[in-house]
Amino acid sequence: MRVAFVDLKAQYASIKPEIDQALAEVIADCAFIGGKYAARFEQEFAAYLGREHCVGVANGTDALYTAMKGLGLGPGDEVITAANTFIATAEGITATGAEVVFVDNDPLYYNLDPAGIEAAITPRTRAIVPVHLYGQPCAMDRILEIAAAHDLIVIEDAAQAHGALWRGKRAGTFGRCACFSFYPGKNLGAYGDAGGVVTDDSALAEFIRSFANHGRHDTLVHSREGVNSRLDGFQAAVLSVKLRHLEAWTAARIAAAARYTEALAGVCVPPAVHPEARHVFHLYVIRVANRDAVRKHLQAAGVPTGIHYQKALPYLAAFERLGHAPADFPHAFRFQDEILSLPMHGDLTADQIDFVADTVRGVARPPEA
Ligand SMILES: Cc1ncc(COP(=O)(O)O)c(C=O)c1O
Repeated sequence: MRVAFVDLKAQYASIKPEIDQALAEVIADCAFIGGKYAARFEQEFAAYLGREHCVGVANGTDALYTAMKGLGLGPGDEVITAANTFIATAEGITATGAEVVFVDNDPLYYNLDPAGIEAAITPRTRAIVPVHLYGQPCAMDRILEIAAAHDLIVIEDAAQAHGALWRGKRAGTFGRCACFSFYPGKNLGAYGDAGGVVTDDSALAEFIRSFANHGRHDTLVHSREGVNSRLDGFQAAVLSVKLRHLEAWTAARIAAAARYTEALAGVCVPPAVHPEARHVFHLYVIRVANRDAVRKHLQAAGVPTGIHYQKALPYLAAFERLGHAPADFPHAFRFQDEILSLPMHGDLTADQIDFVADTVRGVARPPEA
């Protein structure tokens, strides 16, 4: 049985008339960079989250970078984030000249461990970047408490968590700002690269809008040197259409995850959902003792899988300079050989889920406790 890891073709087929019309409008208006469709999506996404501002940028990595520039982070500063996340989280930090400080993930929910954050704080620490990994929000009340006690800025990396809730409140509404990716495969994805920063801080929003547009103050006046990182009209128009469907797609992901978890009980370690969280399953990540064999077996059966991530960031050549050893992040280190992401999207059928689960069951061995 053919099962797609992410099925953007099926998703497009389900909303084709809306998308085609939205793209035709952008062309008719020649509103290609910024413009009215970008402004409309920014308003819609800010309203969806209940935040004052959304500033669209070119991608999620730039959302992190431009936000941190706006918050004044730079050389000499340290910023704490998760050992297991996509490299973009760390790149956003180091692009400002600040240094990244990694913290292990908790072994149950896979998000950065608040106890580890406290241990990592030094006099140079300026900010914490909690990553709502795989679509599950971090334990935000504890993280906000730590931040307040040490006068640290919280910048959420919500790239995988559109629609997630922590104690009933949306991911993306806890930090001084939150950074989203709208990469095509994300829960809310454009038809190319796109990203956004949401915040209630008007000065920060204004900085990002200017910095991401060559430091422009208005069309002709450049108040600072900036970068070119703008949301384009096509992406914004697609995102406006898709935002209307996000809740239904999220519900479908959650239902698919529940079916997987029931079918996989005792076979592997399925994702644990924190009782206070609405996990939106950007990724459905299991742990097995024989990951590579399970992956091969699934591939042979026509089921693509992913690994998020093959190596935790401290163990990548990119961060060799930090000189980390396996014992520094024992959970992240151990889990990098056990984690396996199964197909997950809003168009998975019950038959497909059962087929994937049966195929896993045929070969998987649960990891030792
Ligand atoms: C956790 C996390 N942060 C940041 C990013 C960066 O987003 P983008 O690929 O849009 O630059 C991603 C996307 O892959 C991500 O998963």
